[in-house]
Amino acid sequence: MFHVEKMKRSDFQFAVQLANTMQWNMTTEDFKFMKNLEPEGCFTLFYGSEPVGIATCISFDKAGWFGNLIVKDAYRGQGAGTLLVNHALNYLKRACVETVGLYAFPPLAGFYEQFGFKPDMDFLVLKGKTASPATAGTLQPRKATKQDFPAVIAFDAQCFGAQRKKLLEPLLSGEGNLCYIAISDHEITGYCAAKAYEETVEVGPLMCPKNRVETTIALLRSVLSKLPNRPVFACAPAEETILLETLIQMGLQEDFRVTRMFLGPAVAKGCTYMAESLERG
Ligand SMILES: CC(C)(COP(=O)(O)OP(=O)(O)OC[C@H]1O[C@@H](n2cnc3c(N)ncnc32)[C@H](O)[C@@H]1OP(=O)(O)O)[C@@H](O)C(=O)NCCC(=O)NCCS
Repeated sequence: MFHVEKMKRSDFQFAVQLANTMQWNMTTEDFKFMKNLEPEGCFTLFYGSEPVGIATCISFDKAGWFGNLIVKDAYRGQGAGTLLVNHALNYLKRACVETVGLYAFPPLAGFYEQFGFKPDMDFLVLKGKTASPATAGTLQPRKATKQDFPAVIAFDAQCFGAQRKKLLEPLLSGEGNLCYIAISDHEITGYCAAKAYEETVEVGPLMCPKNRVETTIALLRSVLSKLPNRPVFACAPAEETILLETLIQMGLQEDFRVTRMFLGPAVAKGCTYMAESLERG
């Protein structure tokens, strides 16, 4: 019989091994970070006493995000995935979340539709080394300082539609991480962050009002120009052609596609938006 438990630190090694059968490039640090953010929202699935699956979720006041769903190959097709999704959705419901988002591999959109998730839009996951140092253009975003973080977090909440302080605070102040902001009339008009891992860098979140294309590109270029010859990952909406062109011009290539889906009203609709990560939105 399958049952779900809270993920323990002693499960991290199993979680990494299982996630990396899908080439998700996860490390124990990733699960440690996730568990610190949402101690009760990371799950391990057991068949008897054997760990056979994982899933994680996070709550940002009224919005939640679901990810890292995987069941060991030999145990698929027996209801285990359904059990993990329902377990996480019940957890988020108890946390008073009104909307749950996720990024689905397109062949699995039908699987998630069974729970009521609806496709919102497609995103491309891109990777590659930045080809050459980019110039920031005429607009010159500046590096955010610690004093800017509260304003960045407030700006993000306006664009995302929920308060992501518990994620953004550690992320913005993390060693080696980057954050550039654009300012107009003393107000933040966009920001782009990047997280530095041991070998790779993940760009995002990027948030900018839809009508500020020049600002969006300047923010992206500012961040990428600080990452010459580093392997970079980014997840951007398929419909944002100028943003994608910029990423491709700077050396990234499409790796795969995912569909953003929501159970409940969609969030993060009014802004140009690059994901923070697939598992947290
Ligand atoms: C996705 C995954 C977790 C599902 O786990 P699972 O244990 O096989 O799921 P379940 O047995 O609960 O399947 C539930 C139902 O969904 C159905 N289903 C699966 N894929 C589907 C699809 N694309 N469209 C519609 N239904 C689908 C199954 O047929 C099953 O229905 P049934 O019970 O009526 O036969 C598993 O396939 C997996 O680990 N995949 C690799 C990792 C991955 O892709 N994760 C998701 C990233 S978005």
